[in-house]
Amino acid sequence: MTDGIAMPKGFLWGGAVAAHQLEGGWQEGGKGVSIADVMTAGANGVARRVTDGIKQGEIYPNHWGIDFYHRYPEDIKLFAEMGMTCFRTSIAWTRIFPNGDETEPNEAGLKFYDDLFAECLKNGIQPVVTLSHFEMPYHLVKAYGGWRNRKLIDFFLRFAKVCFKRYRHQVKYWMTFNEINNQANWRDPHPLLQNSGLQLTDADDWESAMYQAAHYEMVASALAVKLGHEINPDFQIGAMIAMCPVYPLTAKPADVMMAERAMQTRYYYGDVQALGHYPAWLLNYWQRKGFDIDITTADKAILQAGTVDYVGFSYYMSFATKARADNPNYVYDEQHALVNNPYVEKSDWGWQIDPIGLRYSMNWMTDRWHKPLFIVENGFGAHDKVTADGHIHDDYRIKYFHDHILQMEKAVALDGVDLIGYTPWGHIDLISASTGEMAKRYGFIYVDQDDQGHGTLARSRKDSFYWFKQVIASNGADL
Ligand code: BG6
Repeated sequence: MTDGIAMPKGFLWGGAVAAHQLEGGWQEGGKGVSIADVMTAGANGVARRVTDGIKQGEIYPNHWGIDFYHRYPEDIKLFAEMGMTCFRTSIAWTRIFPNGDETEPNEAGLKFYDDLFAECLKNGIQPVVTLSHFEMPYHLVKAYGGWRNRKLIDFFLRFAKVCFKRYRHQVKYWMTFNEINNQANWRDPHPLLQNSGLQLTDADDWESAMYQAAHYEMVASALAVKLGHEINPDFQIGAMIAMCPVYPLTAKPADVMMAERAMQTRYYYGDVQALGHYPAWLLNYWQRKGFDIDITTADKAILQAGTVDYVGFSYYMSFATKARADNPNYVYDEQHALVNNPYVEKSDWGWQIDPIGLRYSMNWMTDRWHKPLFIVENGFGAHDKVTADGHIHDDYRIKYFHDHILQMEKAVALDGVDLIGYTPWGHIDLISASTGEMAKRYGFIYVDQDDQGHGTLARSRKDSFYWFKQVIASNGADL
């Protein structure tokens, strides 16, 4: 279709992944054990389990990923063939500091990313790097209790400093913590571990533990912004927010208030990182709950001084909610507050497909945070079938991307949103973060591997590969 609108010159088109979901090589080059390494395979609707260390007989899909660790030169050639001008990945913390609390970094790990980034740049692709993407050292969980411990700030900063210095000439765009706000869903142990390395018991207050951990992360993030700018003033260092706008199910005022509180609860992290301070509603809420979060005067100054340069965000779906008589104070409980939105369709994994929600979100974030935005994840997880002709005809994925990119373009061209770039998630098939499956595929590039890790690992181009190539070549005009 030719209904697209060309993006401004210099707009970045790329793809996004995370180290633990594609690298494999989990013990190579002196790498330590990360939290992703102790997560078993789950399935659609079946949560992944976390084992206490590596257990014989369990399946850990992140151990093999798609073997990008060894195959990246050939993969990057494919990325270049598609026309990508940037590539978002993360630096596995455990390759650089295997346990997280060492004082000296692991040279073999640093060298791996030297080579990887050099290969990208050689192919005309600039790396965009997330420092912490669901893969913190497991040792920091076991020995320190994860991000509930203020010591983690120093360990993270040491890691950030080493990376900023080493890659200061190769990487311009950085992000500190991936989807830092997933833990708003603190009743679910999964985001608590992925975001913050929290493994809580019944004796803990899970909610206040989350607020404390997130606070230390945001202080660490603000300090990293300041440090990064000292190392290279051209660095652009961003937040990374999982954006799922929460709509009121109806125009009933109580439903609207419920949705507003849901948005405040999910996105206060963005307020702190972009505006430099906590919102009043949350401070009041903590007071009513009797939470005594350790926030020092020095922390407040750090947050204010270390606001991000831009807001990176993922967008896959929207949510809807409604008020309930048994919740007169509109407390947002993501486990129980979400309702089906009859106006949108769903993926096979139940993710509500809503292209206009992307434009809405971009406007909402711009109005609220006044920062440039960067769409660093968007995509459609689906079952792909290799047909008799040996190809994958993924017209459903093309439709998803067409509809979302069009809304993104309207937000830029018609609404004036300042957008740095667009990196679709998992542009090469990889291990799903929530389920550990390979079967939930996002890629334009197919990888021959099943959920048990069997397959030739051969890469091939889906129909969407050629489609996205033409989108990039036309700078978004030809959708
Ligand atoms: C985001 C994460 O939550 O969504 C990625 O940043 C993740 O790591 C992606 O893979 C898609 O989710 P899933 O669970 O389908 O892999």
